[in-house]
Amino acid sequence: MADGKWYKEMCVYHIWTRSFCDGNGDGIGDLWGVLSKLDYIQSLGANAIWFSPIYPSPNADFGYDISDYKNIHPDYGNLEVFAQLLEAAHARGMRVFLDLVMNHSSDEHPWFIESRKSRDNPYHDYYYWRPARRIRGRRVPPNNWTSHFEGEAWEYDEGLDEYYLHLFAKKQPDLNMDNPRVRAEFKEIMRFWLDMGVDGFREDVVTFIAKTPGLPNSYPRLPAVNGLEHFSNLPKVHDYLMEFKRDVLEHYDCFTVGESPSTTPETALRYIAEGPGQVLDEMIAFSHMEADCVLTDMVPRPFSLRKLKRAMSDWQLKLEGKAWNALYIENHDHARVISRYGSERYRVESGKMLAAMYMLQRGTPFIYQGQEIGMTNIRLPRVEMYPDVSTQNAARIASHLLPRSQVLKLIQRGARDNARSPMQWSAEKNAGFSEATPWFCVNENYREVNVAKQEDDPESLLNFYRKLIRFRRDNPVVLYGTYHEYLPKDKKLYVYEREHEGVRLLVICSFSADQVRFDAPAGYELDRGLQVLGNYDLNFVIANGFTTRPYEMRVYLFE
Ligand code: GLC
Ligand code: CA
Repeated sequence: MADGKWYKEMCVYHIWTRSFCDGNGDGIGDLWGVLSKLDYIQSLGANAIWFSPIYPSPNADFGYDISDYKNIHPDYGNLEVFAQLLEAAHARGMRVFLDLVMNHSSDEHPWFIESRKSRDNPYHDYYYWRPARRIRGRRVPPNNWTSHFEGEAWEYDEGLDEYYLHLFAKKQPDLNMDNPRVRAEFKEIMRFWLDMGVDGFREDVVTFIAKTPGLPNSYPRLPAVNGLEHFSNLPKVHDYLMEFKRDVLEHYDCFTVGESPSTTPETALRYIAEGPGQVLDEMIAFSHMEADCVLTDMVPRPFSLRKLKRAMSDWQLKLEGKAWNALYIENHDHARVISRYGSERYRVESGKMLAAMYMLQRGTPFIYQGQEIGMTNIRLPRVEMYPDVSTQNAARIASHLLPRSQVLKLIQRGARDNARSPMQWSAEKNAGFSEATPWFCVNENYREVNVAKQEDDPESLLNFYRKLIRFRRDNPVVLYGTYHEYLPKDKKLYVYEREHEGVRLLVICSFSADQVRFDAPAGYELDRGLQVLGNYDLNFVIANGFTTRPYEMRVYLFE
């Protein structure tokens, strides 16, 4: 380890438990299922697991609406099985991170239930309760902010004659972090899990946990994110995170990664730049997930490699020497990456190329369940079949503007449900995910795309991921090298170099099915390099370059 920071050499496997593996035969993934797959996760070379929320939750947002922060959802198990899992993971040298949602709770959390009982209830101030405004005698919400998931950001309560703020779904009331009692609760919650042995947290929408005092109106901009300037990256976010660090986190050997929609490298550095002001280890970026859409996955545009490269390079370069990247191309919030940035026709080739493209950059790689076998988008025939609250919200908004068939297309392409179909373990019934009918549709390609089929095939995507993870672990140039991009304007090729103590790595990725001539940059003689990774056989070099095959990727090492 270069500086004693173990997370720099870590590789994280991200589990969305509900769809990972059903251990008790009720059609819902659970911790018993995860236990049975720990060997599999270890076989990948991953040495950490991040669980999307597994706490009790009414599932308005599948676990991101928490009703008890110190327990396990009965669908997934209980505290004993979690402790068992923790022990089994640690015995394998794997760390375990939980998802901590501090911006909001469920409306079924006892705090909220209390808070809505009366204005003088001791929990009332745990949330943002505000009286209505009157405009020409009409009752209107306290300000004009909009929620990400369900219309305006305020919901009226008859009993109190007040509104509460919810930046996400109605069942996700925002917590008032300005209240020191709320912060004390979260410090308690952190200690509860850390004392049990949990190794850290992924902190959900953490850059939203402070709001402009007085909650003023926003100058209307976009229909879906009105108010952003009043709840994103306010100075108090850093204060609160510093308080959590001082009072809790720095007393444990733990890791934290924040999630922060619409954050730039500059704003991220306020939290993650190494030094006394650092309050998080890493930040989850979004800009590279917007190469085929505008701000949200539901406003599509054609994929632009240049947009992707600009975003990736921006984070690589601006964090260099200052902070550490969180590298990812899939999670539970986005459609499958092969269906987006790669090609379902060249599923395996483009899957390998995308894997090398992001995992050979500088940072901690995160792999989302099913990504390693090249799962692709499901295409369900009706909008109602998509269970996610934000998908239904997007469909509702889109249906004012587009005909039904177009709305369906939009959903099929952009829905985050695409990442939430059951993990495809085998060609058996229900893809080997469960004996019972799964809670959500299995992708019909499961007979072709599954773990069992790829286990023994040395050329499979799964085995490529294993090789890649090992390669990263064993090569300091990948872990610690500098980053330099070539051909930034090219619309089909992504070429970059990593360099460390005289060792250079040249990564060449084609994002096209077309043949493209690649000429090695000045200073490189491909014949002198060792090709260490690729996605085709027979890799000739002609005149210090080559003509790409569909989605070809080659990685050369120069020592
Ligand atoms: C984060 C989570 C997402 C959730 C939202 C609200 O973006 O990743 O799944 O819906 O926060 O908690
Ligand atoms: Ca189950």
